[in-house]
Amino acid sequence: MKGCEYFMTDEEFYRIYTFLKSRYGIDMGRKKEIVVGRMEHYIKMKGYPSYTAYMNVLEKDITGNLEKELVNLLTTNHTFFMREHEHFDYLKQIVLPWLRQKEAKNKDLCIWCGAASTGEEPYTLAMIMKEFFGLEHHLWNTEILATDISTEVLRQAIRGKYTREQIDKIPQAWKNRYFREDINHEFEVSEEIKKEVIFRQFNLMDPFPFKRKMHIVFLRNVMIYFDSATKRQLIQKVYDVMEPGGYLFIGRTEVIDRKQIPFQFVKPSIFRK
Ligand SMILES: C[S@@+](CC[C@H](N)C(=O)[O-])C[C@H]1O[C@@H](n2cnc3c(N)ncnc32)[C@H](O)[C@@H]1O
Repeated sequence: MKGCEYFMTDEEFYRIYTFLKSRYGIDMGRKKEIVVGRMEHYIKMKGYPSYTAYMNVLEKDITGNLEKELVNLLTTNHTFFMREHEHFDYLKQIVLPWLRQKEAKNKDLCIWCGAASTGEEPYTLAMIMKEFFGLEHHLWNTEILATDISTEVLRQAIRGKYTREQIDKIPQAWKNRYFREDINHEFEVSEEIKKEVIFRQFNLMDPFPFKRKMHIVFLRNVMIYFDSATKRQLIQKVYDVMEPGGYLFIGRTEVIDRKQIPFQFVKPSIFRK
């Protein structure tokens, strides 16, 4: 629609694309239509005369608020409870029995969910921990650090309320145990589960600040937006913050070149330090 007031020129697209890629690793190079689709209404609503005018303001905005809003607009946050459940089965059958023995003395696990989106993944992990450790759970620290770059998804995650359809895949017994239906017929994650998950904003492109080594890292369905060099650097950083023997889970459709990464290959989408 050239000539339209909100037409995005190739230069404007390139500017937004470069901004996003250099700061967040997110490569929208071939996704101009998606970028326009997600930004057009916002730009109009906020009264910017053009994308150039908007970027000029954003780049000078020392509060960082405009940048946050851009990230909230342009990240893809699709997720659901029990997604790629084979990973959770593998955790229960292989990883957690190993950790229960290995950490029997300290009873302290370090678990990180690095692209937590609206919370379904870390809450699923928290329920798995509860179920696995059962009556001994209170003796263990199985707190999950859940991070994401988008403040909007983190807000929803902390709220922890989902529709009936969103919790559909959760076993009935877990629904009864870990959710409470409110007067608006939303299902809120119980306090017992909420307190097992710590949500923080964190950009995977930044240096990792973790003081302790991770036993389990979930980094699923986020690297699809990164180019291969960015993926390689990120995987090396993850490797460096992991315990020997620790497990990394990535999305089942994500492609990484196994020869270029330090992890041992366990099976597709599961790696071990
Ligand atoms: C498609 S969701 C995946 C959610 C969940 N891991 C799953 O597999 O269902 C991808 C998430 O990665 C986040 N993300 C994208 N780039 C990021 C970055 N540089 N640092 C941290 N999170 C990022 C997005 O905000 C989004 O919530």
